[in-house]
Formats: sequence, C-alpha cells, structure tokens
Amino acid sequence: MSGPSWDPACYLAFAGERERPFAELVARVGVADPSLVVDLGCGPGTATVSLLTRWPAARVVGVDSAAAMLARADEVADPPRLSFVLSDVRDWEPPEPPDVIIANAVLHWVPGHEALIGRLAARLAPAGALAFQVPGNFERPTHTLLSRLAPPGLLRDAPVLEPAGYLRLLHAAGLAADVWETTYLHVLTGPDPVLEWVRGTALRPVLDALDAGAAAELEAEYAARLRAAYPPDGEGRTVLPFRRIFAVGHRSAG
Ligand SMILES: C[S@@+](CC[C@H](N)C(=O)[O-])C[C@H]1O[C@@H](n2cnc3c(N)ncnc32)[C@H](O)[C@@H]1O
Repeated sequence: MSGPSWDPACYLAFAGERERPFAELVARVGVADPSLVVDLGCGPGTATVSLLTRWPAARVVGVDSAAAMLARADEVADPPRLSFVLSDVRDWEPPEPPDVIIANAVLHWVPGHEALIGRLAARLAPAGALAFQVPGNFERPTHTLLSRLAPPGLLRDAPVLEPAGYLRLLHAAGLAADVWETTYLHVLTGPDPVLEWVRGTALRPVLDALDAGAAAELEAEYAARLRAAYPPDGEGRTVLPFRRIFAVGHRSAG
C-alpha cells in the first residue's frame, strides 16, 4: 500500500485542505519543549516543515516509505534540524525516545496499525505525546462506489476504528487520551473535482493494478457515479463532506 506509486503532485493538488487537519491535530499536543519530534508517513514534507515553527528548538525527523514523496521532502530538508528517512513506519527505530510522534493521514494505510499504536506509545519519552489522524469516511460514496467497481482485494473495508476504539487503545497503552472527530465540508471546483481528490489517495492503488484500458474504463464509470453522488451547485461548487478522526495520547512524566 505504501509503494513507489504515491504521486506528490496529485497529493499536493489539495494541499490546503489536507494541511488543515495536520495543524488541528498538532494544536492539541501539549508538549512544551520537545527535543525529538517524529512525523511518521510525512509524505512530501510540506506539513512536517511547520513543526519547526511550532517547536523551534526541536530536531524533527520525517519518515516515509515512498521514494517519490521523500524526494520532494528532501528539497525542504535542513539537517540536523529537519531530516527525512526512507523507511516503512513499522520497521523504523527512533535514535532515542521521541517526545512527540505525529502520524497524520497514514495509519489507515498500515496493516495492523492498532498494534503499531501500542508499540509507538511504548517508545515515547516521559511526558511525550502520540498524535494521529485517520479518515473516517470509508462508508461514504467516494469509497463505496469505488469498492463496487474495483476488482476484489484492491480496497480494504473500513481499515480504521471508530473514535471510541482509538480511545480504548490509548488508555490500554497507559496514555491520557483526547479523541474527537470532525466532518469538513470541502468546497471543490472544476470538472470532476471529487475524482481528482480521490486520485491522490484511494483511487491510486486501484488504477495501478489495472492495465491502461481497464483503468480508463473504471475511471470513466467511477467519474460518472461520483458526479451523480456529488452534483455541483448552480455556481459550479461541489461539496465533499470528509470525516476525520483525531487522537492524541499523552504519557505521564513519571
Ligand atoms: C496521505 S499521505 C499523508 C502525508 C502527510 N502525513 C500529510 O499529512 O500530508 C500518506 C503517506 O503515508 C505514507 N505511507 C503509507 N504507508 C506507509 C508505511 N507503511 N510506512 C511509511 N510510510 C507510509 C505514504 O507514502 C504517504 O506519503
């Protein structure tokens, strides 16, 4: 799921909409003066850079398994303050216990992410925090329409937990938990804007797995169904409701 086909250009087409949840997640991290901050699944590094402003004295390390994303991230690297590592988040070992671990819009791509949350919590430095955000929209037409059209096995059903599930996981890991959800109403413009949105994420592994003809056929049918599910208003605005689940766990200082 995290192979080389991640396309930074597609992903960054909606950079503003995608960066807001990152900022709202990080705003709830109550760690005053961390020395090591880790951004797991950092993608092109555009959001990672903002962590230097939030914590000017920290060393920030971004980790991602997609070489194309890391190539973009390396353009903003500024070692030793900001560096990037090519690795699967399941394999990467921090050089020292991190004070802050962020994982924004990545854990739903990681098989067994529930167990990973426990392992990450155990690695935190005292008084450290683990903060993650996952989409909670797998029952919405963007996903249900695609799962009806895609060959079996290419899309997972609801790979995330409900908010209460994450709360329980953080408590089980011994952290004080702060969990919430938000539905953003993204106002998109242009032809087939919902298709363009999904092209940067869920549609990507499906098209990659098909030959060119089958991919074009699926894309045309999916676009038609998305137009019916998300019709533009008279002014050419298309509203895409997007639910996201946020979780922040703080470890005690003792
Ligand atoms: C939706 S993007 C999120 C990027 C960034 N966190 C942000 O908020 O903009 C998901 C990223 O997770 C990465 N990813 C997915 N599975 C991964 C894994 N197992 N290990 C490391 N990175 C992974 C992908 O390469 C991609 O860059």
